Amino acid sequence: MTRNTRRQHALLAALPKPEIDPWTWTEDHPHPDVGTDEVLIETHYVALNPVDWKGVKYRFGLTPEPKVMGRDGSGIVVAVGDGVTDLAAGDRVWYCSNTALPHSGAFQHFSLHRASQVGKVPPTVSLQSAAAIGTGFLTAAVLVFKCFGFPVSKATVCRGRKTGPWIFITAGASSTGIYLIQLAHRLGLRVITTASKPNHAYLKSLGADVVLKRHDKDHELVHNIRKYTEDGVTLAVDNIGPKHSAVAREILAGSSAWRAEHHIMTSTDETVGRLVSIAGSPKDVPAFPDAVRTVDEIRISFSTTFYGQPEFAREVVNFVYQQLERGLLVPQRVYLDNSGLSGVRAALDTLEAGKVPSGYKLVVGGLQPQPLEAQIFTERASAKARARLDPKRKHYHLDAYDLFEYDDVEFDPAAEDAWPPSRKLAKVVKHAHPAVAAVHSTLA
Ligand SMILES: NC(=O)c1ccc[n+]([C@@H]2O[C@H](COP(=O)([O-])OP(=O)(O)OC[C@H]3O[C@@H](n4cnc5c(N)ncnc54)[C@H](OP(=O)(O)O)[C@@H]3O)[C@@H](O)[C@H]2O)c1
Repeated sequence: MTRNTRRQHALLAALPKPEIDPWTWTEDHPHPDVGTDEVLIETHYVALNPVDWKGVKYRFGLTPEPKVMGRDGSGIVVAVGDGVTDLAAGDRVWYCSNTALPHSGAFQHFSLHRASQVGKVPPTVSLQSAAAIGTGFLTAAVLVFKCFGFPVSKATVCRGRKTGPWIFITAGASSTGIYLIQLAHRLGLRVITTASKPNHAYLKSLGADVVLKRHDKDHELVHNIRKYTEDGVTLAVDNIGPKHSAVAREILAGSSAWRAEHHIMTSTDETVGRLVSIAGSPKDVPAFPDAVRTVDEIRISFSTTFYGQPEFAREVVNFVYQQLERGLLVPQRVYLDNSGLSGVRAALDTLEAGKVPSGYKLVVGGLQPQPLEAQIFTERASAKARARLDPKRKHYHLDAYDLFEYDDVEFDPAAEDAWPPSRKLAKVVKHAHPAVAAVHSTLA
């Protein structure tokens, strides 16, 4: 057997020793070989999550030996194992690494993944948007399909007027919240959530029924949620932490005194409220003497669901493909940093410092050279999709790849569906931004 001697760049971390930086950057990391049920992916974009810096800072999920960090990415399949039938070399894909597996970390050029846990990207979605699906979407999927037990098939049907139970989601503009709102909406649940004011219209466009101010005092929030839902919230997800989770618990418990005061009949509604706290459970749970529901707290687990059940994983990634293709699932908006793999460490500092615009996913690109024509094609499609969501397009982070966000660019309808892009489109591109002169010469 020939030994694989190829090497690659990678960003690793290990359990920190005093005074020693837990992070290591190497340009000499082994290049993995593909196993039977695995796919080898050349990553083009990585998306950053709070856990990527929190795990290293607060020492969880680390081992004494350095391991490659990073969960979410998108790229191109370059090799598949003998047992893989539904993916092939050349497929455009997204993934959320199972960090329990060796070689799966996103912060390297080539990583290995179980085929059942990798999703194909339809041609209308850019790879940079696809990188933003990962952890946020899978957390939302495990919440609704496993913690709350809704069947995946139920979310594929287009709904009319929503009549399902009320779900309260804290931090609707978080990555998890953005996908949770969309899934809850597809399931016919009525969604009430919190966010800062600039994100209200965005969350409503995704399917939130009521968006409340993030900075309301706790008692105001409880009162407002009871008022809007007639004390009817029976499902809740907290994305922020123990204090907010405690508020969600109080909302789920309901109040016979509040109902009496506001002339709301104590109905025969659900007597159990279900809460999932993904960022920490309430510490001291007060008794609510006039509660109308008991509250079940459900723990979220990826290892026993998405990573532990290949059939479920496959069902979920197929669902994502269909929904993206039909424009029924919208990836989170992207804040792009093109500084490449060696720039990930600095980008994590940006995320930790809270400098990423709220409601956007920080995605690092520049990991692999990508044909510029492909960038243009996919960005054009995603810009159109995003334009439906937010008319204030000037607020997007702009760079050479985001040229279709410019308001003064008008597409030539004859060039719209042309593939490969035509000379006419090349002219439009050149007109959009002086920085893309190189793109123009590639196409023309
Ligand atoms: N247990 C698990 O399996 C699991 C899985 C995924 C994530 N998590 C954890 O869940 C949390 C959320 O992760 P994420 O990646 O989804 O978050 P994220 O995308 O980083 O969320 C940031 C957004 O949350 C909103 N926010 C922050 N504080 C808020 C508050 N007090 N009230 C309302 N909104 C607030 C802000 O939007 P506005 O400006 O609109 O307020 C902010 O833009 C993190 O702590 C993460 O580590 C856990």
